[in-house]
Amino acid sequence: MIASLRPERKLRVFPSQPWEIQRCLPSPTRILYGVGPNVFEISEFAGYALLDSGQGEKLERFGELVLRRPDPQALWNRRGSESLWRSADLTFVRESDRGGRWEARRGAHAAARDAQPSWLMDYSQARFVIRPTPFKHVGVFPEQASNWEFVARAASQLGTGARLLNLFGYTGAASVLAHQAGLEVTHVDASKTSLGWMRENLVASGLPEDSLRVLLEDALVFAQREVRRGSHYEIVLLDPPHQGRGPRGERWRLEQGLAPLFEAARSLVAERGLLVLSTYAVGYSPLAFSNLLEDFEGGTQAVGELALRETEGTRRLLPAGFCARWWRGLDL
Ligand SMILES: C[S@@+](CC[C@H](N)C(=O)[O-])C[C@H]1O[C@@H](n2cnc3c(N)ncnc32)[C@H](O)[C@@H]1O
Repeated sequence: MIASLRPERKLRVFPSQPWEIQRCLPSPTRILYGVGPNVFEISEFAGYALLDSGQGEKLERFGELVLRRPDPQALWNRRGSESLWRSADLTFVRESDRGGRWEARRGAHAAARDAQPSWLMDYSQARFVIRPTPFKHVGVFPEQASNWEFVARAASQLGTGARLLNLFGYTGAASVLAHQAGLEVTHVDASKTSLGWMRENLVASGLPEDSLRVLLEDALVFAQREVRRGSHYEIVLLDPPHQGRGPRGERWRLEQGLAPLFEAARSLVAERGLLVLSTYAVGYSPLAFSNLLEDFEGGTQAVGELALRETEGTRRLLPAGFCARWWRGLDL
């Protein structure tokens, strides 16, 4: 459904394909057409699978290893057997509000039994280093594959040499893939560890370490400086955390920083270009992002949820954050 806001502005609402959901649900549960959430799903890829979820945890396969870790969204009952869950190579054990440790199962994959486990996950032409951290993260957010696909579609229309700005770029999965798609990538993050990991991902993907323009910088400070310089990017990616710190201790808080960041992004995005915002920060509705995007000139916007679909059973969707997309002059 496409609804006009202003003459040249469009709001796209993605129907959630309820016929497919109904087919999977145990009779007699039904989901009515048009009342489901708007979900930006990922296409399945061999490197990753969500095997099951429930009772506050998720069970996932990254490459060859199965991981079990907490997920506060998984409020429902598990469908998989106890033995399936016990088969995880690594299990996250919470030690405090801030983090925990990973425990390897006896007889687990050799990589899991290493003192500092790390291994590879393939995605398209790229390879990413998976490394379990004390913060539950492993270096890749697979739900972002939906945005990787979206950027790849845009790249094929924009052509080689179009510029992409990845703010809060983390370990650079989106940046590596954008580079492989022929884009000129500027990757910004405040963490040396994340930038080092991004370089590992470049090398693992068979690319030179210096393939991208990389900045250890506060995302908002950098964006505002680029506006003063009159810079433009065809693609702007924003994936801010709820709270963070710039490299000189600059404080990032989503509730205060998002409006000035959008203001800067509005100037930075090229006449023919797109912007993607995603966030896992709890408490912000996609409608709030939609309202922020109203200040952008013309174009089309789509807002909704990121999610991962279980590979077994009724193939439930595990929510994985909110996402807003805006584009102009492209057919996406
Ligand atoms: C949620 S992660 C981004 C996930 C990533 N885009 C992906 O999909 O794989 C947040 C990143 O923001 C970075 N960060 C936090 N505060 C920042 C700031 N003020 N400026 C720049 N980067 C910041 C962190 O170092 C971290 O790498």
